[in-house]
Amino acid sequence: MTAPVEIDFIAEDPSAVAEAEGAVVVLAAGTRLLPAAQAADKALDGALSRLVASKRWKAEAGGSATIPFPPGMKAEALTLVSIGESTDAHAARKAGGAAARALGGRRGAVFAGGMGDAELTAELAFGLALRGYDFDVYKTASGDEDEDDAPEGVVLACDAPEQTAKASRPRAALAEGVFFARDLVNEPANVLTTEDFAARIAAMAELGLEVEILDEPELERLGMRALLAVGQGSASPSKVAVMRWPGGGDEAPLALVGKGVVFDTGGISIKPAAGMEEMTMDMGGAAVVAGVMRALALRGAKANVVGLVGLVENMPDGKAQRPGDIVRSMKGDTIEVINTDAEGRLVLADVMWYAQQRFRPAAMIDLATLTGAMIVALGHETAGYFSNDDALAGALEAAARAEGEAIWRLPLGPAYDKLIKSRLADMKNTGGRAAGAITAAQFLQRFVQKGTPWAHIDIAGVALSKEARDLHPRGASGWGVMTLDRLVRAREKG
Ligand code: BES
Ligand code: MN
Ligand code: ZN
Repeated sequence: MTAPVEIDFIAEDPSAVAEAEGAVVVLAAGTRLLPAAQAADKALDGALSRLVASKRWKAEAGGSATIPFPPGMKAEALTLVSIGESTDAHAARKAGGAAARALGGRRGAVFAGGMGDAELTAELAFGLALRGYDFDVYKTASGDEDEDDAPEGVVLACDAPEQTAKASRPRAALAEGVFFARDLVNEPANVLTTEDFAARIAAMAELGLEVEILDEPELERLGMRALLAVGQGSASPSKVAVMRWPGGGDEAPLALVGKGVVFDTGGISIKPAAGMEEMTMDMGGAAVVAGVMRALALRGAKANVVGLVGLVENMPDGKAQRPGDIVRSMKGDTIEVINTDAEGRLVLADVMWYAQQRFRPAAMIDLATLTGAMIVALGHETAGYFSNDDALAGALEAAARAEGEAIWRLPLGPAYDKLIKSRLADMKNTGGRAAGAITAAQFLQRFVQKGTPWAHIDIAGVALSKEARDLHPRGASGWGVMTLDRLVRAREKG
């Protein structure tokens, strides 16, 4: 797994800034230089004072400017980063992201003295770790170096190093969860097969998670014909992985369910060639579930959470399912497969049903890169979600807001449910072009039991990003790991 950068927390001595080696970051709160920045300003004959007074200076959190090989200093580069004028957690994270870019592949030091609060300083360290993610396992040449390279090591000089290090511990666990999810999404499908994915999940037993991998004969026995139909054209066997974190005594668990299509060709309803390589990310929902479970285990969450993921590959083949096939779900309802490319809902239907039958969860949340229609609706900025329960919806939105992950609710309703009526079976797996994200959610809702508060999050637009953002480089975002961890934290007692 890609590991977050090692951060050494030490007590700040602002006068040490001139002697610091590698890439050095000092901070400004808007246009006000913090102590180490003031010390650097002296060494540089007032260059930083002039910088923050100039129109070029971006005073908002995350704004930055770099002086390469600053005279009178040992640093390779000196970067001034703004934490914003009134610094909150979001601003501190953004500043940390800017610091990671400034370090870009190098060793260095961040001088954060004067930020005051240990929690805020820990947020900066967290932002640094998140933006410092770099999936480079398949890069053989270590030639060029840029802001997207992971920092090689960071010394974080701050006011209360012990407290800050302590405040950073749960955040480091969360960063590992996010990295785990990102790695899974970034891995190509020839490496991350259903078996490889299952093995990576099974390895988390080391962390205290109770893991079970259900194989095809077992899934057959359980009656998961909808899920099995999706994988029957693939050389990789279909699997369901069950992860249990028993941190909450005898309370009913929260169930997290993820779509884990390791590659989605569309099956016999094959997708066009252009862009098909992106379908290595069609296990993004399962990656988020696995990432959250990892974070919960690493930080020792006091909650009962079960994570279930359906791992399949959607391939065209002599054994593949056909358009027009009718399959029976574990629930017993029959499904007419109009389009084999609407496979995610077939997988989720069976895993969601199994999750409820087995665990009687207090609430269930599924995540999936489910529809292109969600990208049409919300683009790559915001995840869309659906829920049958306003309290769960409120908790989810509050958690997403606190973590800075944008989410927007879309409607469910009987009028949309009509669109998936089938002539031959209990339902069909597509509802036509109109409201494609909603008819997919309506399909899933048919597998939600009465009394189970449920939310479905369609992350098709946000799981993978063509551009770098404040807290991740381009590629997998890990969207949702932080929100769900926060949601679990809100449910924890004490
Ligand atoms: N995995 C795709 C959805 C998707 C598309 C995710 C683009 C990320 C980026 C899903 O399995 C799919 O193919 N959905 C179809 C459904 C249609 C056939 C009803 C779609 O959205 O086109
Ligand atoms: Mn598909
Ligand atoms: Zn898919």
